[in-house]
Amino acid sequence: MNKIRAAITGVGAFLPEYRLTNEELSTMVDTTDEWIMKRIGIKERRILKGEGKATSYMGAEAVKNLLEKTNTSVDEVDMLICATITPDMPFPATANIIADKVGIHHAWSFDLNAACSGFIFALSTATQFIESGRYRKVVVVAADMMSSIVNYKDRTTCTLFGDAGTAILLEPTIEDIGVVDHINHVNGLGRHHLHIKAGGSLLPTSSKTVENGEHFVYQEGQAVFKAAVYGMADVAVEIMDRYNLKSDDIDWLVPHQANLRIIDATAKRMGLNKDKVMINIEKYGNTTAATIPLCLWEFEKKLHKGDNLILAAFGAGFTWGSVYLKWAYDTE
Ligand code: UT7
Repeated sequence: MNKIRAAITGVGAFLPEYRLTNEELSTMVDTTDEWIMKRIGIKERRILKGEGKATSYMGAEAVKNLLEKTNTSVDEVDMLICATITPDMPFPATANIIADKVGIHHAWSFDLNAACSGFIFALSTATQFIESGRYRKVVVVAADMMSSIVNYKDRTTCTLFGDAGTAILLEPTIEDIGVVDHINHVNGLGRHHLHIKAGGSLLPTSSKTVENGEHFVYQEGQAVFKAAVYGMADVAVEIMDRYNLKSDDIDWLVPHQANLRIIDATAKRMGLNKDKVMINIEKYGNTTAATIPLCLWEFEKKLHKGDNLILAAFGAGFTWGSVYLKWAYDTE
């Protein structure tokens, strides 16, 4: 009997309506559209507004979109994993809140924190449950409300991030499609270059931490950039080599959208032309865990059953990883 593989059988997304443009940002901090486009490649990002709306809202909307598109009932879902670094609250898990909001009551659910590699790590994890044969419908949510942790007075970080919610459905298949393999890496020393200092057990929130702005994202941009350029390209090439894949064998690179220069460097190392690379950073910025599924959602109609996809990400931790999968369906 053929081995069970996990196949992505649908993609859902939610994007907030508000567009924070480079023009508006340049009225908030000392920056320009020209600098942002040249150094990062972002024109605008979506920002979630509205009282009581947070990551779970975007995640739940994305799951509703997914279930409707795939004609799946809430009672069929066995498990839900939410990749996020901006949970609604420290506990309970945002996955629990999303499941409740959507009406998924027969599944267990938990959060997974791997920052910008969150989707790759969650997909790798969910795949194991499907491959075991015990789970038939697993939802992976990747959602981040980065606007809740970004300092809009810090020009070195506030230009980078946006908000979005996404969700994919994973189901078993014995056809030659679905997730073939994954390679994931972690180097915890990277924590010194990209983190939020306060609000955890090491430095609980106090009026002093708030005064010092220690509840916001802290990033040493150049150190992260260097590690990301090597990490994302290395792991993408590592999985290509494992399967003896040449650039002609690959239909799409689906890269994390942190900086257009990092995406270009990865594509170049893989020997890929830009027409094989999913890019939407210009419209949404870095939505952390959500970037890769947001690309899949946006490019869904261009994908064909059997297409070879390499997914690759790099993020805080440091975490980085790659998934090789064969796309499972055609979209009418
Ligand atoms: O997804 C999670 C992982 N994160 C990443 O992958 C992000 C990786 N890092 C980056 O993408 C880049 O390092 C940044 C986009 C964050 C920064 O770009 P950079 O080319 O590395 O710039 P830099 O930090 O070396 O700064 C160059 C100059 C500095 O001015 P001086 O010191 O040369 O006078 C900065 O102060 O650019 C200045 N600068 C800005 N100028 C205008 C920094 N941010 C801005 C800004 N507008 N928004």
